[in-house]
Amino acid sequence: MAKQSTIRTPIVCVMGHVDHGKTSLLDRIRGSSVVSTEEGAITQHIGATLVPIDAITRMGGALSKVSVNVPGLLFIDTPGHHAFTTLRARGGALADMAIVVVDINEGFRPQTIEALQILRNYKTPFVIAANKIDRIHGWRVQESQPFGKTFAQQNERVQGMLETKVYELVGKLSDLGFNSERFDRVSDFARNICIVPTSALTGEGLPDILMVLIGLAQRYMTENLKVSTDGPGAGTVLEVKEERGLGMTLDVILYDGILKVGDEIVVAGNDQIIETKVRSLLKPRPMKEILIEERFERVKSVTAAAGIKVAAPKLDAVIAGSPLQVIRGGNRDEVIERVRHEVQDIQVNLSDIGVIIRADTIGALEALSKELEGHQIQVMRATVGPVTRHDVIEAGTIKDPLYSAIVAFNTPVLPDAVDTLADVAMSHVSIFEGGVIYQLLDDYIEWREEKKQ
Ligand code: GTP
Ligand code: MG
Repeated sequence: MAKQSTIRTPIVCVMGHVDHGKTSLLDRIRGSSVVSTEEGAITQHIGATLVPIDAITRMGGALSKVSVNVPGLLFIDTPGHHAFTTLRARGGALADMAIVVVDINEGFRPQTIEALQILRNYKTPFVIAANKIDRIHGWRVQESQPFGKTFAQQNERVQGMLETKVYELVGKLSDLGFNSERFDRVSDFARNICIVPTSALTGEGLPDILMVLIGLAQRYMTENLKVSTDGPGAGTVLEVKEERGLGMTLDVILYDGILKVGDEIVVAGNDQIIETKVRSLLKPRPMKEILIEERFERVKSVTAAAGIKVAAPKLDAVIAGSPLQVIRGGNRDEVIERVRHEVQDIQVNLSDIGVIIRADTIGALEALSKELEGHQIQVMRATVGPVTRHDVIEAGTIKDPLYSAIVAFNTPVLPDAVDTLADVAMSHVSIFEGGVIYQLLDDYIEWREEKKQ
């Protein structure tokens, strides 16, 4: 039988600084597309929202001119880059594209910069939502309108103010090595990052951001989006959750193939590979049926891309960020090996002398190590989990004092590690802790410079 292939829905992750409007933006996209389309056109997935292409077309006028062959966009709701780095697929990022949300009145903040650095390292295409334009003093709201239409309705002073703010962003992006422009002046998506002025509150500019995302997908990624519709399913575990009446379940984003009830699957635990069999596949119930007691609707199978809840035995030890792969035919050993490889083989180049790094998830560890590599900082060991006493002792014995350091991202330092650090013999060792990668890096680099003198 010939293998069927199709272009799957691109997966889009929303990133950006706290309170800049990530959740509001998704809510508004969900809300408007529900209003602008026939009932049921938009579907809520587990951990994600699928906005089909016809809903997008109806929202955005300009889009109707573009010939479109992607089936829609799957937005991952879990906000922030934490999700982005946890969601890995085949050693890369799971998200095909990203929206970086920036409050246009506040400009870039630490997490905006971090998001951009992560996207650069993963070579993920993205668009900037210059959000909260309705807060510009004197702004006249044109509910849900494309940017061009609403901009034309503003007076000259307001227009000038918006331009200035957009150019401030262009300047900041340029400092970081990105060429960018307001989206309606961009002719080559490969050379320039599009900045789309938006308001998540009023819906202004949202048709444009959807259009830019579709354009990016269409022009630059259709090859990557080709998947088999009948091949064995492959996905990434978003969350491991206990559900009443179902036991332990996995929230999974399926990015390739098909997943069926009864399929044998392989997932990863902290230090073991788990084989099990899918007992049920569950989708959220549509809103209007919310009164029905059971929260989920059972389905027999799902095809990529989709967000789905998987119930199966033996899921207790599964880790978030783990790959999920279906065993089909005689490829059991191969699949197990692939999953094992994906978990162990984080793309870190280790050196004999270097810093010790720790992070809360596999993806975060990888993001941190890439950033260090970019600064020619060597890494001796990279592991998931809290900082231990052993880490401190190891850092203490490193020959080069400039590397007697532990860099810990989003993960605690255990009490006995703190005790050991207080030891006189360990006075030359430092631990850098934090939740923003590039700040950790700056701290470490500063410490290093001081030591050199
Ligand atoms: P975290 O998830 O905490 O990182 O924040 P977030 O980026 O998801 O921001 P969220 O969407 O929760 O928005 C934060 C606040 O800004 C809320 O009070 C929103 O109502 C408000 N807000 C978001 N977008 C807009 C906008 O375009 N205009 C205005 N006026 N307010 C907005
Ligand atoms: Mg949020």
